[in-house]
Amino acid sequence: MKLIIDTDPGIDDAMAIAYAAAAPELELVGLTTVFGNTHTHQSSRNARYLLHRLGLSVPVAQGARAAWGKAEHNPSSHVHGPEGFGDLVEIPDIGENHATPAAEFLVQMAQEHRDELVICAVGPLTNIADALGLDPEFASNLGRLVIMGGAVFVPGNVSAHAEANIHNDPRAAQAVFQNPPKTVLVGLDATMKTLYQSSDFEALAQHSPDMGGFLRDISEFYLRFYKEVVGVDGCGLHDSTAVIACSHTHMFDLVETGLSVVTDGDRVGATLPDASNPPVQVCRDVDGPAVVELFTRHVASLP
Ligand code: BDR
Ligand code: CA
Repeated sequence: MKLIIDTDPGIDDAMAIAYAAAAPELELVGLTTVFGNTHTHQSSRNARYLLHRLGLSVPVAQGARAAWGKAEHNPSSHVHGPEGFGDLVEIPDIGENHATPAAEFLVQMAQEHRDELVICAVGPLTNIADALGLDPEFASNLGRLVIMGGAVFVPGNVSAHAEANIHNDPRAAQAVFQNPPKTVLVGLDATMKTLYQSSDFEALAQHSPDMGGFLRDISEFYLRFYKEVVGVDGCGLHDSTAVIACSHTHMFDLVETGLSVVTDGDRVGATLPDASNPPVQVCRDVDGPAVVELFTRHVASLP
């Protein structure tokens, strides 16, 4: 399966990219970047740095800098650190972005690879909504869209109602759910059941001193946030769980429903079942230990 990750790295994004590089069933053919955990230029620099460390030479196409209808974005640096990688603040700027902007790149890749291509969107859905707007055939060309976002049957993480990726661009998310490609939504319903603890990072670093050690180091900041603010011992493998859902669908309990996003008011960013929108597959449960074990097994095989 050919895979593009649309991403805002970001600590759990870095874990997901490492997983995609290690998993034999996935062929990473590019990354597209978006604002969210960081500003977009930081997401792109971090994406290029990760690919360099992983020894992968695939394009990084830079995408949207702000949500639909907004001029700028305020990054989640209290969760992911000032540069997106926790306490690590000097991140080498290696290589260059692809000449084509993210949404156009996604359109072109879907035209070229069609059913074979899966896009895993693990940041705000702005680039995906832009691609849908650029090409009326984008949704039907694409094999599948797997989204890390939303909290359908459980509370949110940035408010009682909303999950961060959807909250960061609710209008773009609504546009995607009104005209979805074949879509699987992996929200907090699943990803808060895939907690990764400090001892898991230590074991990972022992087997994989370079990449595992890097992930352990950058995750200290993230684990502190989870402990002090969320009150949980361990961090959600949010973005990795979505990447795992691209190939290991059997680990997820899926329910089919249309979805709508609240775009204004107190409940902004909420993802609600809505039968008037086309159906998507929503994960309402997951075999958490199986996801954690699979993540560790593959990432531990990296140098
Ligand atoms: C999502 O928000 C971001 O902070 C994470 O990278 C993940 O994609 C979790 O709500
Ligand atoms: Ca992310």
